[in-house]
Amino acid sequence: MIRTAKESDKKSVLKFCKNTFSWGDYIEQVWDYWLSENHLFLYEKEFPVGICHAFYSNDQIWIEGIRIEPSFRRKKIASELVKHAEFVGKEMEISQSYMLIDTENTSSLSMANSLDYEIFQTWNFYSLVPKHVENYNIEFENSLDLKLYPNYVRSWRWFPIDENALSKLSQQNNIIKSKINDEESVAILTASEHFDNTMIVTLFSGSSNSTLQIISFLQNYAFEKNYERIQILTKEILPVLDSLEHRLSFHLMRKILV
Ligand SMILES: CC(C)(COP(=O)(O)OP(=O)(O)OC[C@H]1O[C@@H](n2cnc3c(N)ncnc32)[C@H](O)[C@@H]1OP(=O)(O)O)[C@@H](O)C(=O)NCCC(=O)NCCS
Repeated sequence: MIRTAKESDKKSVLKFCKNTFSWGDYIEQVWDYWLSENHLFLYEKEFPVGICHAFYSNDQIWIEGIRIEPSFRRKKIASELVKHAEFVGKEMEISQSYMLIDTENTSSLSMANSLDYEIFQTWNFYSLVPKHVENYNIEFENSLDLKLYPNYVRSWRWFPIDENALSKLSQQNNIIKSKINDEESVAILTASEHFDNTMIVTLFSGSSNSTLQIISFLQNYAFEKNYERIQILTKEILPVLDSLEHRLSFHLMRKILV
């Protein structure tokens, strides 16, 4: 009943992935990309009734895009899809599995809990408007204390910052720091691989003043590079600003596979 999705499944899957959340859904925008990455799993009765995508990297499974056709919910279809994604990961000797769930999505959180996922971290999602800003106090960084800055977000997937990632990010001047009165904030910049003109920033906010400097830099950088939107992911609560809006909070759920 579970198989890999094909191009021809798109139409029937998108029928139940349009108005999933109050703001709609994003499956249509990522479908082709996920298909090309492989591991887009589909649950079929006589027709597709559920999907889930898994991204396997080093020692982690990233599970995303779980969608079950509304009239087929509470039949363990999501659970079966997740277990299938885990099974494939275990075959690759991967030891950890992650998913990101809106803190208000109680059904998905219950589903994850029932499969032994636990809250690992909680992150806030802010949107920031690009604009021209003259002054900011930031530096580009080549190294990071990976105990303080262990992970970053790329295309809405959380990855550990290892030496390889650190070297790529710093070569492209994508790690910035602001230090004011001995308190520092760090931001890691990426361009979304799925959405046009979208910058995704992981922000470690150590103080309001240093965060404000980083925010000014980000606004100006995005403005100059013609990004339309800046999405910030941070564990901290950010200062109140007109151009900065708190959108949602997410639990990063983790399961250690045995
Ligand atoms: C969340 C979602 C994926 C669950 O799919 P599902 O196939 O219905 O889930 P399952 O049948 O595998 O549920 C397994 C367990 O999770 C919990 N659960 C699932 N849905 C629940 C709900 N609406 N309320 C409370 N608990 C729920 C229950 O413990 C359930 O076991 P039970 O039915 O024996 O009580 C589905 O509701 C959905 O597609 N929602 C919209 C999209 C979404 O939120 N996706 C997840 C994004 S992170």
